[in-house]
Parts: sequence; structure tokens; C-alpha cells
Amino acid sequence: MLSYRHVYHAGNYADVLKHIVWQQVLLHLNRKDKPYCVVDTHSGAGMYQLAAAEAQKTAEYQDGVAKLFARGDMPDTVAEYVAAITELNGGDALSYYPGSPWLTAQALRDADRAWLCELHPQDFPLLLQTLRDAGTHPRRVKALKEDGFQTLIAKLPPAEKRGAVLIDPSYEIKADYQRVIEVVKQAYKRFATGTYVLWYPVVDRRRIKQMIAGLMDSNIRNIHQFELAIQSDSRQAQSGSGMTASGVFVINPPWTLAAQMQQTLPWLAESIAGIDGRWLCEELVPE
Ligand SMILES: C[S@@+](CC[C@H](N)C(=O)[O-])C[C@H]1O[C@@H](n2cnc3c(N)ncnc32)[C@H](O)[C@@H]1O
Repeated sequence: MLSYRHVYHAGNYADVLKHIVWQQVLLHLNRKDKPYCVVDTHSGAGMYQLAAAEAQKTAEYQDGVAKLFARGDMPDTVAEYVAAITELNGGDALSYYPGSPWLTAQALRDADRAWLCELHPQDFPLLLQTLRDAGTHPRRVKALKEDGFQTLIAKLPPAEKRGAVLIDPSYEIKADYQRVIEVVKQAYKRFATGTYVLWYPVVDRRRIKQMIAGLMDSNIRNIHQFELAIQSDSRQAQSGSGMTASGVFVINPPWTLAAQMQQTLPWLAESIAGIDGRWLCEELVPE
């Protein structure tokens, strides 16, 4: 039974970091003519109306993407992300926020392919609608009402031998913290040259340390960690609040990404969380 719906969280600070990284991964793949393929294991609805009652209930985007629009001195990565959102909205008003499927659909060229998995009975039809609205070819960009973990393994290695994978569970099932690492290890065995972006929330730091231990104990090379926090872990322990940071592990990132994130993360931390902002940019395993 899936209760999580991303519309309550669309455009929050976790989405900002994840989508900036995902956009850069896709832009990098587009620098070569050779076709590539994308798997998005947990796609969500693909597009969110910020005026919807669900998004307004939490208004998380106000402490995320909305804060970026107030600033002018953006690093290039943020400027590219804001430009995509501005284009979607037809101006500076923030009415719609794009999910990862929309960002993927915008980036893909005619010869590229994507599989987008979503299980939620309400969000799957919305995902189909997002793809129709984006004008994607249903045979090139396929929405599948399937378990993203299983489908990922089934689709690898891709015939194109180039590609990127986004793994973005909600972690409402706590076993997912371990499962994602097992799935990444299996996927890497099949497709070691792919780029993998694995999102995580920091609700309990011990779980993230276990994820890192699992990754470092594997044969996977070239692993980076990028994290954005709105509170320190110690403040989290005191207040018992929910998610206070989130990040991504990126395997085989574009070679330019670590340097870009060194510039991007301090700027995001300051713009979104002010003096409480924290960030992390680490190479966990070298190439
Ligand atoms: C965090 S949201 C995804 C957000 C999206 N990746 C984005 O960046 O816009 C996670 C989604 O995964 C879906 N989901 C949960 N378990 C799944 C599974 N095993 N396979 C596919 N989708 C799943 C949920 O219904 C939810 O919509």
C-alpha cells in the first residue's frame, strides 16, 4: 500500500539538489551525438501544480525552489535549472514544478530512450498525462506501472551502452535503505559504465552511514556524495524533526560535476537555509 505522494513535497530543497544534479547528468550525456538510455525507477507524476491543495498544504516549495527565484547571482548549474522552470511556467511566476520525468523528456533527443516506473494508482495516470503533454513518443519514452527496482535490473545493460539511472524512492518502506544498495550493486554488475544517481533523505544519520558502508564495501568505483542540509545533525537530534538534509550518491558522474557542485552547494545552502545551511561534496571512492 503506497501512501507517499510527491505532490506534497514538489520543489522542496531535496528536489532542488536532486534535479540540479539530474539535469547536469542529462546535459552531459547530450554533449555526445551517440544515443543513450535512461531508467527512472521511481518517477512520480512528472509534473506538479503548486496551487493544488496538496502542494499548498505543506508549501515546501516556498523553502526550496521559490527561494532561488529571489536571487540573481546564481552559479551556472542553478541558472540552467531555473531557466528550465521559467520556460515551463512561461515566465517568472511559479505555478508548475517539473518532476524528473519531465526533465528527462525535455533533455532526450530523437534517438534516446527512457523507461519511467511508477506504481501509485493515482500518480501513474498523471505520469502518462505529463508525457503526453510533453509530446514524447510513447515508444521512445515509456511509462511502466512496474516495480522500479525489478525493471531496472531487467533493462540492463542497455543496447546503447550509454545511459543514466535515477533511483529516487520515498523510503516510506525502511527496508529500502538497504534494498537500494543491493539493487545498485546488481545494476552496476550489468552496466558498470552507466551513471547512477541515488537519492537519500537524512532523517537518521546512521542509515546514511550504513548506505555509505554498503557502497564502499562493493566493487563500485567513482562514487561521489553531494548533500544539502537545512539543519545540522545535532540540531536534528535535539528537535527530533523529520528530514533535515538530503543528498545524492552519484556513480560515474560527469567529470565536471564535482567541481560544479563545489560552487553550487554553498550557494544553495546559503540561499535556502541561511546560516543554518550545511553542505557536503565528497569523493567516496575514486575512479
Ligand atoms: C520521491 S517520489 C519520485 C519523485 C521523482 N523521481 C521526481 O524527482 O520528480 C517516489 C515515487 O516512487 C513511487 N514508488 C514507490 N515504490 C515504487 C516502486 N517499487 N517502483 C516504482 N515506483 C514506486 C511512489 O509512488 C512515488 O511516486
